[in-house]
Amino acid sequence: MEKKLIVWDNHYSVGFELFDSQHKQLIEMINELYASFLSGEAHKKAVDIVSEMIKYTDYHFKSEEKYFDKYNYPFTEEHKEIHKSFVNKAVELKEGLESGKVTVSYDIMNFLRQWLIEHIMGEDKKYETFFKEKNIDINEKNN
Ligand SMILES: [Fe+2]
Ligand SMILES: [Fe+2]
Repeated sequence: MEKKLIVWDNHYSVGFELFDSQHKQLIEMINELYASFLSGEAHKKAVDIVSEMIKYTDYHFKSEEKYFDKYNYPFTEEHKEIHKSFVNKAVELKEGLESGKVTVSYDIMNFLRQWLIEHIMGEDKKYETFFKEKNIDINEKNN
């Protein structure tokens, strides 16, 4: 069986199906990178996987930010800043991999895992109460 770096746990739920499923997708992408790292194939696949991860991360962040903007979520600016700094780091990683200056390592895998889980458990969970108190319907078609 494929070894997973992150296994979804209900504690990670932010209370909305749409965002949970996007987070699950990001977890899968990190697991995919991890699997290629373990197989020794990371150098071949890493750039593609990280590029896809950046694209999906951008899509997910925009998805959250759309709701922040629309409903004047009080932590909008700081949350967007955190998103932006992660994208910058991920792009830096991609460029490092492309140039061959960086190879996938346990440090990089741990950084990705820790960042995503801490972000979900910290910043992302903060919006649950706010959106729930306002009875906001978060779903694909409003997205
Ligand atoms: Fe998120
Ligand atoms: Fe977020």
